[in-house]
Amino acid sequence: MPVIIEPFRIKMVEPIRMTTRAEREAALQKAGNNLFAVPAEAILIDLLTDSGTGAMSARQWAAMMVGDESYAGGASFWRFEEAVKDIFGFERVIPTHQGRAAERILASTLCRPGHVVPNNTHFDTTRANIEAAGATALDLPCTESADLQQPFLFKGNIDLETLARVLVEQAGNVPFVMVTVTNNGGGGQPVSMENIRHASQLCRGQGVPFYLDACRFAENAFFIKRREPGYEDLSLIDIAREMFSYADGCTMSAKKDGMANIGGFLCTNDREVARQEEELLILTEGFPTYGGLAGRDLEAISVGLYEALDLDYQTYRHASTRYLGDHLAEGGVPIIQPPGGHAIYIDAAAMLAHIPRGQFPGQALALELFRRGGIRSVETGSVMFGSRHPDTGEEIPARHELLRLAIPRRVYTQSQIDYVVEVVLDTFADRHRISGVRIVEQPRRLRHFSAVFEILNHPAEVILESLPAAT
Ligand code: F0G
Repeated sequence: MPVIIEPFRIKMVEPIRMTTRAEREAALQKAGNNLFAVPAEAILIDLLTDSGTGAMSARQWAAMMVGDESYAGGASFWRFEEAVKDIFGFERVIPTHQGRAAERILASTLCRPGHVVPNNTHFDTTRANIEAAGATALDLPCTESADLQQPFLFKGNIDLETLARVLVEQAGNVPFVMVTVTNNGGGGQPVSMENIRHASQLCRGQGVPFYLDACRFAENAFFIKRREPGYEDLSLIDIAREMFSYADGCTMSAKKDGMANIGGFLCTNDREVARQEEELLILTEGFPTYGGLAGRDLEAISVGLYEALDLDYQTYRHASTRYLGDHLAEGGVPIIQPPGGHAIYIDAAAMLAHIPRGQFPGQALALELFRRGGIRSVETGSVMFGSRHPDTGEEIPARHELLRLAIPRRVYTQSQIDYVVEVVLDTFADRHRISGVRIVEQPRRLRHFSAVFEILNHPAEVILESLPAAT
């Protein structure tokens, strides 16, 4: 087999700045040990997110030049709507400035206090928007996903048995069901076509709208092509069309598989719901033919959606994510197996077994990777998905303590990824010297963005601190 290479060449470069360990230590101190607060210019390799951080193609830049910036009825919107309808197939297309704006409009339109919204795993903003509307966001990941090391092929699936039960028990209380493809909160794992089809059948049987959170729909389509019998010869666009044919609507962040730096949309087949959503859209996003975006952004997305469905691109994308995962796993680093589409997730609780869960091993590891190698990653464990009980202040942990290395699209070369492997393996060799962290300040919602952390000096001191004081 020949090496799978990047199916593009580089036309424009952006320098990245080398920093010293002392500079990085100072940056962490200033940022309250929160990597979201570190200035991007202090970062060497930025794996914080794959969202809006990709490189656009020459075709996308060219399309931006013909962006129509009319307030109403601009030609860019018609081109955008045509592309979205061609791939996603929904009747109504509502542009938004990014995914969470689509989520907010959907949740405010359909959710009421007492409602329950099941999802394979809600992304943090999806959960927050549903909860902000007074409803309960219920995660129903499949049972296979609990074992992080087991390489089950469709670990992103929703648990159909529990979904069926919830739909009956909560009849009348479920405004919609959502399935997130790929399942970002659950390790970037794919959802099978069979699972989507069955979830849709269950929902339709109960008259409940079925939605897809479509952010990484093209990566999911590639997984289906490679892993699900019967799909190996289909094009990615046909697989995507089939996925969406089972849904009544979707939310989309075009910052992922829209291959754009900003943008999103909300789709539905329900005209009355669309009408209510457009009213909200006008209130906070903009007129329905631009929805908070410039005409040129709509153009970039229209081209990007098709580029994400290019087979050579997805073959490279998946090979490069797997390359990072395989090299880390070969070095003994515990990662979620098999590697996901957009990111590699390290099981920080297993890697830093000496750090108790209450001391956020994922955050401790993220800080160490930055300190050592200028790599920015993100904790996706109890800092992001856990919470504090509003009355007792007790910490409610997340399901897993993970660290995500998200790979921006078409940005980093193989030697840059080799550097990441080196830094992570070095850190792994020294892992016993990493200490846990404590949260000293946090907001009520989405705390990972702005919490302030203190590094607990040394594991040994933590043990002493937890002993009762001598009398
Ligand atoms: N749904 C999923 C599955 C996501 O991963 C994200 C964003 C959103 C919705 C919200 O979209 O950012 O455009 O408002 N995920 C990014 C990430 C931020 O880093 O995983 P948005």
